[in-house]
Amino acid sequence: MAILHLDRNHPLLLQQLQDAGFENHEDYTLPKDAIEAKMAAYEGIVIRSRFKIDRQFIDAATNLKFIARVGAGLESIDTEYAAEKNIALIAAPEGNRNAVGEHSLAMLLALFNKINIADKEIRSGHWNREANRGHELDGKTVGIIGYGNMGKSFAKKLRGFDVTVLCHDILPQVGDANAKQVPLEELQQKADVLSLHIPWTNHTDKMVNADFINAFAKPFWLINTSRGKNVVTDDLVAALQSGKILGAGLDVLEYEKTSFENLFEAELPEAFAYLLRADNVILSPHIAGWTHESKERLAQVIVDKIRQLYHPETPEKPLQRVTGIGGFFFRAKDPKALTAWYHEHLGLNTDDYGCTFWWKDSAGNDCSTQWSAMKESTDYFNPSEKQFMQNFRVADLDALLAKLREEGVAIVGEPESYDYGKFGWILDPEGNKIELWEPKDRAFL
Ligand SMILES: NC(=O)c1ccc[n+]([C@@H]2O[C@H](COP(=O)([O-])OP(=O)(O)OC[C@H]3O[C@@H](n4cnc5c(N)ncnc54)[C@H](O)[C@@H]3O)[C@@H](O)[C@H]2O)c1
Repeated sequence: MAILHLDRNHPLLLQQLQDAGFENHEDYTLPKDAIEAKMAAYEGIVIRSRFKIDRQFIDAATNLKFIARVGAGLESIDTEYAAEKNIALIAAPEGNRNAVGEHSLAMLLALFNKINIADKEIRSGHWNREANRGHELDGKTVGIIGYGNMGKSFAKKLRGFDVTVLCHDILPQVGDANAKQVPLEELQQKADVLSLHIPWTNHTDKMVNADFINAFAKPFWLINTSRGKNVVTDDLVAALQSGKILGAGLDVLEYEKTSFENLFEAELPEAFAYLLRADNVILSPHIAGWTHESKERLAQVIVDKIRQLYHPETPEKPLQRVTGIGGFFFRAKDPKALTAWYHEHLGLNTDDYGCTFWWKDSAGNDCSTQWSAMKESTDYFNPSEKQFMQNFRVADLDALLAKLREEGVAIVGEPESYDYGKFGWILDPEGNKIELWEPKDRAFL
């Protein structure tokens, strides 16, 4: 199985593919048409952004099974046509998302603290403290548009700051513990910082234009590490001049070539010349995802995905058993009076069912644990005659019960399903009844 490599990458890519039995051919220089002429010999190509993989290329590649892009997005590939031809598409956003998250933060902090200006001034013999007084992120609202790999990585980096992080995305329910998903209008009302992490599509082309910028309630800082053509540079410059945009960190520019390799061929557009002069603008040459670590990680992700394509392994996931305490139930002579005592002296927020403790898991989901006193005569603990019954939270009740049955554990009754989750019951060797609960905590919020 022969793979053609069209860009140089971390050496582990060639080495590990060879070890896995693939035949590697490298061609880093021939023009696209000359590559097309020999494409019939290859089942796979590995490319970064050297040229577009269009219909013509795909038609020439009559035996192509996969296209692997050593980068995050696939916009340089005619993905629809490739899918029509049953060609698998492989990208590696897992490989450079951390780099992008860190770079976005670096740009933001550099802007806020005027690092680039202060550095330049000292080098030219100026020690200007007051003029270089900075801003703090603390207390600000950061708006992220595009909450995928890169947006999530940036939000994760912001966790240590006391900032409110909002995200907006066209997909529903992508918000998480690190960013609250809101409509675009709300983000524009509240944000002090806007960071773009969207792909370049028909909808996001020129998205940040004058109207979009003016819809923000407050002046704001802009970070763009997504694609240059998401922003109308003329409108960005106008907003920098009017003070609506306070500063900008731009890793990508409207004027870049699609290969991202060059910029300075033609005469500089006026707006770009302004950015080059502006003190409140930080530029970097499309390197947000370009670190020593990501070079290696991107290559590894690509190798792993190619291997998986040819030798799919479905590693058996270890069965998750108990994930936490779901509840604690005990017999009481006078449950009502006893519950009132706990309310009065321990401050438990009780109702007719006892007390529900609400908390959030590490992913930010609402979760609950129930505490309840029951009548002494309750048959809920049957066949146990003990004073207590424990309730454990479990991730997959059916799988766990099947496993417990295999292991010879005593199962009580049949599982039952309610709006708030599934229940099953077992006995431990001392006859304590244990309730197993696969919860839907939000069901009774
Ligand atoms: N500067 C760099 O070095 C670098 C490195 C990696 C990725 N990138 C760029 O970062 C961007 C994001 O990459 P990713 O891997 O996170 O992509 P992704 O597909 O994982 O996430 C993008 C998110 O944007 C959302 N989106 C699409 N259109 C939208 C719209 N009109 N409004 C709001 N949300 C929208 C999608 O639903 C998705 O959740 C891409 O443009 C990518 O090319 C740049």
